[in-house]
Amino acid sequence: MRTVHTLFDLRAALAGAPRSAFVPTMGNLHEGHLSLVRQARAAGGGPVVASIFVNRLQFAPHEDFDTYPRTLERDAQLLRDAGCDLLFAPSEADLYPEPQGYKVHPPTELADILEGHFRPGFFVGVCTVVLKLFNCVQPAIAVFGKKDYQQLMVIRRMVDQLALPIDILGGETTRADDGLALSSRNGYLSAAERVEAVTLSRTLRGVAEAVAAGRRDFAAIEAESLQALAARGWAPDYVAIRRQRDLGPPQAGDTALVTLAAARLGTTRLIDNLELALL
Ligand code: PAF
Repeated sequence: MRTVHTLFDLRAALAGAPRSAFVPTMGNLHEGHLSLVRQARAAGGGPVVASIFVNRLQFAPHEDFDTYPRTLERDAQLLRDAGCDLLFAPSEADLYPEPQGYKVHPPTELADILEGHFRPGFFVGVCTVVLKLFNCVQPAIAVFGKKDYQQLMVIRRMVDQLALPIDILGGETTRADDGLALSSRNGYLSAAERVEAVTLSRTLRGVAEAVAAGRRDFAAIEAESLQALAARGWAPDYVAIRRQRDLGPPQAGDTALVTLAAARLGTTRLIDNLELALL
């Protein structure tokens, strides 16, 4: 695997190669990212390209941009072992040589709800960097984790509406043995918080079981889940039951649903989701 740090070197490395399968990341990689790399390897005929770039544009001033772990050497070794061919790890000066004035504003009905409501501007930052990375790498395929369910949907919509010639694939969430969704931010948890963290996925399973048992009072299930998290010391942002196709509130006849949650445990904000099928 080769590592390049500039757009110039990236273009030179890709010149003449078939269009790639691309996995954009912010680094501090874990098994979830590596499963996306393996999925990219299996899906595409061209080289597998990963990027590592901690994107300032998607962090609010009070968030963890400065402390987000930068572990490039370790990440490069993991990517190499997972079958990645080329790592693009640009500096800020290379990706944003001047303040990024042109930005991608995703539609508010998709991007200002749930994560976008609690992290205003987050999806503007994500779409802007992802479009820019797509323009740099020009992949045929890009793989994003379903753990960031809304992000995957926002990016799919951007690719559709802007007619980008890229197939977007969703990768299943990788979980620890106890069910906690793997996340770079799990590393912020203390030992005691790590034990408690599994409550988030258990909460979503509780929602799924309530729905599977026939409950359709979604607002009440959401409120009970929020209360239960708060009672255990969490500061929940949302527990929501939405339809998969646009993350709108379920209407009669919707059968493909998803329950999504975001909550803070101590200073660490965790998100997770679970797809539900109504029979
Ligand atoms: O999911 C992430 O790691 C980031 O939001 C992404 C897609 C790499 C854009 O910075």
